[in-house]
Amino acid sequence: MTNCDIKDKNLAPAGKRRIEWAERDMPVLSLVKEKFSKSQILSGKKMSACLHITAETANLARALKAGGADIVLCASNPLSTQDDVAASLVVDYGIPVYAIKGEDNKTYYRHLIAAVEHSPVVTMDDGCDLVSAISAKHPEIAKQIIGSMEETTTGVIRLKAMERDGALKFPVFAVNDAQTKNLFDNRYGTGQSTVDGIIRATDFLIAGKNIVVAGYGWCGKGFAMRCKGMGANVIVCEINPVKAIEAAMDGFRVMTMAEAAPIGDLFCTLTGDMHVLRPEHFSEMKNGAIICNSGHFDIEIDIKGLKKIAKEEKKNVRNFVDQFILPSGRSIFLLAEGRLVNLGAAEGHPASVMDMSFSTQALATEYAIINADKLKHKVYDVPQEIEDWVATAKLKSMGITIDKLTPEQVKYLASWQEGT
Ligand code: ADE
Repeated sequence: MTNCDIKDKNLAPAGKRRIEWAERDMPVLSLVKEKFSKSQILSGKKMSACLHITAETANLARALKAGGADIVLCASNPLSTQDDVAASLVVDYGIPVYAIKGEDNKTYYRHLIAAVEHSPVVTMDDGCDLVSAISAKHPEIAKQIIGSMEETTTGVIRLKAMERDGALKFPVFAVNDAQTKNLFDNRYGTGQSTVDGIIRATDFLIAGKNIVVAGYGWCGKGFAMRCKGMGANVIVCEINPVKAIEAAMDGFRVMTMAEAAPIGDLFCTLTGDMHVLRPEHFSEMKNGAIICNSGHFDIEIDIKGLKKIAKEEKKNVRNFVDQFILPSGRSIFLLAEGRLVNLGAAEGHPASVMDMSFSTQALATEYAIINADKLKHKVYDVPQEIEDWVATAKLKSMGITIDKLTPEQVKYLASWQEGT
């Protein structure tokens, strides 16, 4: 019997179909799985992974298990779990899972503790909750950890704060910061899946709408680009002056949130920071304005502040849509409880892009194990050779070949004498 706390084991057949469907689009991860099956690099290693429980994550877990890992999974967000996938992982693949879509905060942390109690030597995180729990309350486990992988921007920011405070007790790899992750997953993955979540939740027509994008990092850029491509008038709000110029030169209107509030039809936060949308903005919004978040935590929209100023709240006027009626009589619609709309109301990023992110995760894990005796208690970048391996394999799977430098070009690039 595989340990678990999931919604319903009878959902397993549907989950298995989803996992297999995703696998078709994850050729690089399949290569990693083959490599791990042969090397057994993770043999006997206890692993805990706090990730979004999706079909793509299931394929990552299968690859790690094929390499010999004794792995358990818990959710990295209360709303992102695909219950059928969780069931299939337990029933068909014998992988313990602690995750139920819509779980309350207490259950979320109970599940996290189950992953801690597995007593891992390797961890994976999407948001740093597992590392944070282990570091704060379980020094005996922190001591045994060989390496930890972090999947998302918010998690890397937390880890760097831990490193600065001397609180980091084991080596960590910032998988998010690998180009094979953020240039594709953050940009094209978030771009597409955020549009997908909004459309599934609302049936909203993008064309002709004023869409306000808060944050112009890779996620914000991806979302803004997709909305523009679908005919929206995109407005960008950004606090970083360089990124703000970039947004302006990419052809977007750039302004403050106070200026954008009365104009926007839909607002999406992708900043990683708190209270980007707050009461002073809500009260200026048009009747029917839609607000959502695609950043990691549900802090980007001040929901408590919205509840405080609303005279009435109607839950679930449509799946994943709550209505707030303000004293002015105007309504604001909040999607997916302010949690990441792409995973709450849709299926997260497509498998094809997670293929690169999760191959990078898996190979960083292999690297951490092979180099365990050399690594310090630091936040490491993913080594370039892993990025090159993943990019080369992905290109090959896409049927793309690229040019190679000629010997003359190699020599030229290595020289400094030749000029005009
Ligand atoms: N993060 C964003 N999309 C995801 C997905 N499909 N699976 C796992 N993590 C994700």
